[in-house]
Amino acid sequence: MGKKFFIQTYGCQMNLYDEGIIKEILNQEGYAPAEKEEEASLLLVLTCSVRKHAETRALGFISSLRRLKYKDPKKKIGVLGCLATALGEKLFSYGVDFILGPDEYKELPRVLKDSGCPIRHQGFPGETYQDILPRTEGIKAFLSIIRGCNNFCSYCIVPYVRGQERSKDFLAVIKEAEILVGAGVKEITLLGQNVLGYKSNGFTFLDILKELNKIDGLKRIRFLTSHPRDLSFPLIEEMAKLISAGKLCPEFHLPLQSGSNKILSLMRRGYTREEYQKKINYLRSLIPDVAITTDLMVGFPAEREEDFQETMALVEDIRFDFAYMFKYSERPNTKASEIEPKVAEEVKKQRLTHLIEVQNQITKERNEEMVGKVFEVLVEDRIGEEFRGKTRSGKMIIIKKPALILGEVYLVKIVRLNGWTPVGQIIDNQMEDL
Ligand code: 5AD
Ligand code: SF4
Repeated sequence: MGKKFFIQTYGCQMNLYDEGIIKEILNQEGYAPAEKEEEASLLLVLTCSVRKHAETRALGFISSLRRLKYKDPKKKIGVLGCLATALGEKLFSYGVDFILGPDEYKELPRVLKDSGCPIRHQGFPGETYQDILPRTEGIKAFLSIIRGCNNFCSYCIVPYVRGQERSKDFLAVIKEAEILVGAGVKEITLLGQNVLGYKSNGFTFLDILKELNKIDGLKRIRFLTSHPRDLSFPLIEEMAKLISAGKLCPEFHLPLQSGSNKILSLMRRGYTREEYQKKINYLRSLIPDVAITTDLMVGFPAEREEDFQETMALVEDIRFDFAYMFKYSERPNTKASEIEPKVAEEVKKQRLTHLIEVQNQITKERNEEMVGKVFEVLVEDRIGEEFRGKTRSGKMIIIKKPALILGEVYLVKIVRLNGWTPVGQIIDNQMEDL
């Protein structure tokens, strides 16, 4: 029987991309994926530590693996990713055999051969993994262009666990995109903690967009995440041109975090609510069908009721298409952990509940506005008799009609909502040129 591994992944899209890198490294070592934990000799947990809750979930899963190892001591457990850096050697008390941080996955072959020797992370070698092509199948793929983060927002653990910001070489990015498209990928999402910070030999993020726009066979380009501070007015103008003429999709994920200038300053975000709103207005004036999504956080230290009300007012004013919403979670060693007074858990909960209620209503109303309109939908999935696809602005659509081709773009008229999700009907034959 060949060697088998099982990997459980938590966290953001960066981790999903890294999962592909890890799978490719293991493939080269002769490992095949196992369906279930029980069948694998190698058990990997790819972790996240952005909030306490993410850590707790990963630690719970690691504990459950320990029981499997108890039954079969030959199994190896490895903890990979952000929690490996954040907790370090403390993880060995969970019965873990080895730990590798986000920049150390190339150590896997050595660790796997080196039986019995627990490995801890060695710092940040500035890895970009540009010599490893992650395994991808299907229509959509992620492409990581920049790793790490130098922003040091006061609440955020990312710069500590993922290290300094560094960009993949420009030519490596383009080559990776071409290989993906050659393998049948129709939609590429460029990834980074802040893609707008991309810099390599004088090439910028805009240069990547322009170059990818030329690749035949690639239908859509998306990108995640953009720091609002770095979205300049000239950049918006250039991106608007690529959106109206090309493959670039009109979807911006611009984490706002808070609507209070006092809190934004304590967070070290580098913009005010007024600056943020001006950028949104400019985006909407140049790109009529643009979708704007965001991240919001409540209960940051020193957030008063009036600060929270400012967030609520801005949320109601901007009307985001979608938002990820969180309670502030204290992270060790971050600047915010020293800011007082802390907001009581009960207050955080109330604020989050209220925010979610208001934003979810807005999200639903925005989807309702789609009813009766026609969109270009790239069909990406089939679940039973239903097809699923996305509009250019990233809205998921259900299409209840058999015999659509995955990876093709269809014109779809939205007829109603199913819960929140728009349901559409095909109104045209397959569109060859989109
Ligand atoms: N507590 C709560 N949410 C956080 N985020 C980042 N750090 C924290 C924290 N300490 C949220 C931010 C960020 C998203 C990825 O996670 O909103 O944009
Ligand atoms: Fe965290 Fe700020 Fe970096 Fe985003 S940009 S990962 S919020 S430090």
